[in-house]
Amino acid sequence: MSTAADDVLRYGIIGTGMMGLEHIRNLLEMPHAEVVAICDTNQKSLRRAAELFPDRNVPQYSDYRDVLALEEIDVLVIATPNFTHVDIVLDALDTPCHMLVEKPLCTTVSDCIRVIEKEAKVAFADRVVWVGLEYRYMPVTAELLHRVASKDVGDIKMISIREHRFPFLKKVEDWNRFNVNTGGTLVEKCCHFFDLMCIAADSEPERVFASGAQSVNHLNENYGGLVPDILDNAFVVVDFKNGVRAHLDLCMFAEASKNEQEICVVGDLGKVEALVSESLIRVGIRSQGIGAFDEYVVSDESPYSGFHHGSSYLEHVRLQNAIRSRRKPDVSMLDGLRSVAIGVAAQLSIAQNRVVSISEVMGA
Ligand SMILES: NC(=O)c1ccc[n+]([C@@H]2O[C@H](COP(=O)([O-])OP(=O)(O)OC[C@H]3O[C@@H](n4cnc5c(N)ncnc54)[C@H](O)[C@@H]3O)[C@@H](O)[C@H]2O)c1
Repeated sequence: MSTAADDVLRYGIIGTGMMGLEHIRNLLEMPHAEVVAICDTNQKSLRRAAELFPDRNVPQYSDYRDVLALEEIDVLVIATPNFTHVDIVLDALDTPCHMLVEKPLCTTVSDCIRVIEKEAKVAFADRVVWVGLEYRYMPVTAELLHRVASKDVGDIKMISIREHRFPFLKKVEDWNRFNVNTGGTLVEKCCHFFDLMCIAADSEPERVFASGAQSVNHLNENYGGLVPDILDNAFVVVDFKNGVRAHLDLCMFAEASKNEQEICVVGDLGKVEALVSESLIRVGIRSQGIGAFDEYVVSDESPYSGFHHGSSYLEHVRLQNAIRSRRKPDVSMLDGLRSVAIGVAAQLSIAQNRVVSISEVMGA
């Protein structure tokens, strides 16, 4: 496996829909990275990916197992629909390839545990399996997390994340319209935010209470007689073991908003906020008086901004650094599991109108 600092890392991309193309566009901007195989079951998706390489023919595959059989691949990027992750990752773990698997790791806690157990069993030395929770690397979010970790606002007590955005986009063969394929909105979409909560809280989640519904979106759509069953709005409260309490306010029919996400973390000394789309950080320190705050813009300096403010580029840089320096992933499968477990607990809380403990969904 290539791991020296300037060896080219050779990538196989499995799933070349929206996110697969995003990964390819990022990799095209990176030195020492080469896409050597693209794979999709859908010919249109595959053709779109091939068009990103006007000067060369990248080998194309429609069965991911043919990609796993290639010896020349160092890193697999798995960007297929959520429900397919478990089987593809289980098979991919039999190869020595490093891996970036898109979020959510899997759609259920038990499938996440299956892949984690398999990785422990096959145990390839220095193999990096990384979960695509790249919101951590959005420049403005990373700045907020840095200020939190630096204790600028003291000991963290409360975290509040608001995502007010556009409805789910159309996906290839409409897989994202049904909970069975996605894991549910609070797994599929909100695993990113639960991951951020865990980092900011610096603790493990203990219990979840949520209220939510499908109130506006996709109600008039019909797929072979089935109407989509995905939530489009929710409030989720997460209590952490260290006493930090966190809150998610999700609305997916609020695209007419200034900021898509507003993340607010309050400690005993003050409060720090990150406003994504403005890319603005606002910090207020209590000792400076009522209404006092500073604010500044954090810029995205990635060569390719893409859909996520440059965070996918930074994700790839960090993944490559981990591979080359033989260290553990920054975003491990355990992180992937934890973010899925909170989402699963939130979905269950809504379905059963009760508080759900994380130990319950973990089967403990
Ligand atoms: N990290 C992020 O911010 C982010 C953003 C969007 C999507 N995602 C994740 O990326 C993944 C893909 O989402 P998307 O938006 O690109 O969906 P998409 O529908 O645009 O693309 C998925 C592609 O996978 C292909 N596919 C399906 N089964 C396959 C298989 N067995 N082998 C090979 N290809 C197969 C489909 O034909 C399609 O082209 C999902 O897990 C999604 O949750 C992550």
